[in-house]
Amino acid sequence: MRELSTPAELIAYRKEMTESVGFVPTMGALHTGHISLIKQSVAENDKTIVSIFVNPTQFLEGEDLDSYPNKIAADLKICSLAGVDAVFLPSINAMYEEDELTITAPKVKGFILEGFNRPGHFDGVLQVVLKLFNITSPTKAYFGKKDAQQLFMIQNMVKHLFLDVEIVPCEIIRESDGLALSSRNIYLSEEERVRALTLSSSLKLATKMIMNKKFNCASIKSSMQEVLKDTKLEYVEIVDREFNHIEEIEIKNTIILVATFVGTTRLIDNIWI
Ligand code: PAJ
Repeated sequence: MRELSTPAELIAYRKEMTESVGFVPTMGALHTGHISLIKQSVAENDKTIVSIFVNPTQFLEGEDLDSYPNKIAADLKICSLAGVDAVFLPSINAMYEEDELTITAPKVKGFILEGFNRPGHFDGVLQVVLKLFNITSPTKAYFGKKDAQQLFMIQNMVKHLFLDVEIVPCEIIRESDGLALSSRNIYLSEEERVRALTLSSSLKLATKMIMNKKFNCASIKSSMQEVLKDTKLEYVEIVDREFNHIEEIEIKNTIILVATFVGTTRLIDNIWI
């Protein structure tokens, strides 16, 4: 497995290849969720490139940029065992210069939900993902449905900027008790880990209501809020798959999303109906 640390090295490596290339961008501290994306890429492409880069431009003031978990040695082992061909581990200086042009997420859908609570977050995500796409020129790029709005923003960027890459949405991987895997789960104390289960429980309750033909979004949201009452809720929202607000559940066209603080850890989860 190659370890590359500058864009120039990766561009040169990529130029040697004529085969299909799968790309999995990550911020490291790899867990089973990331590994499922990597395995899917390895299965579907001749070569797989994984990037590990904690991108400063997508963190807001006061967020966990400086304490973001770093497990490079373990991450490299995971990638090598999973059959990754190259890992890209750039420094911040290798990726950014002073006074760069910036990208702004779409003014409406980039500034609701995650974009409302973390204004500017998607600008940074899109900026780094566009750079990474330009460096890796992937055939396919893999993103988790766990970050549903991020996935939607990236699909939009590909469409709006006519990028030649296929975005592959990947299923959410959960612990056996339902907690969605996240690099940030390690911040949770034992007691918070128990309370964190209310995210997936609230989504399970929503699914149950829908199975019982209760399609009114307001009543689903209020039942979910009740389950989440011991957390510091940021939002429970029900949207269609284009992120438009909806009043009634549309089967096969709905996403139910939740974002909440458990202690000081911000967690998100969602379910696609
Ligand atoms: P990161 O949080 O490291 O996530 C990398 C990828 O793994 C994302 O596509 C995310 O949706 C996916 N992922 C995380 N947890 C998952 C889970 N439980 N099940 C399935 N997929 C999961 O998302 C980012 O990094 C960054 O914003 C990035 C796109 C790399 C840009 O900096």
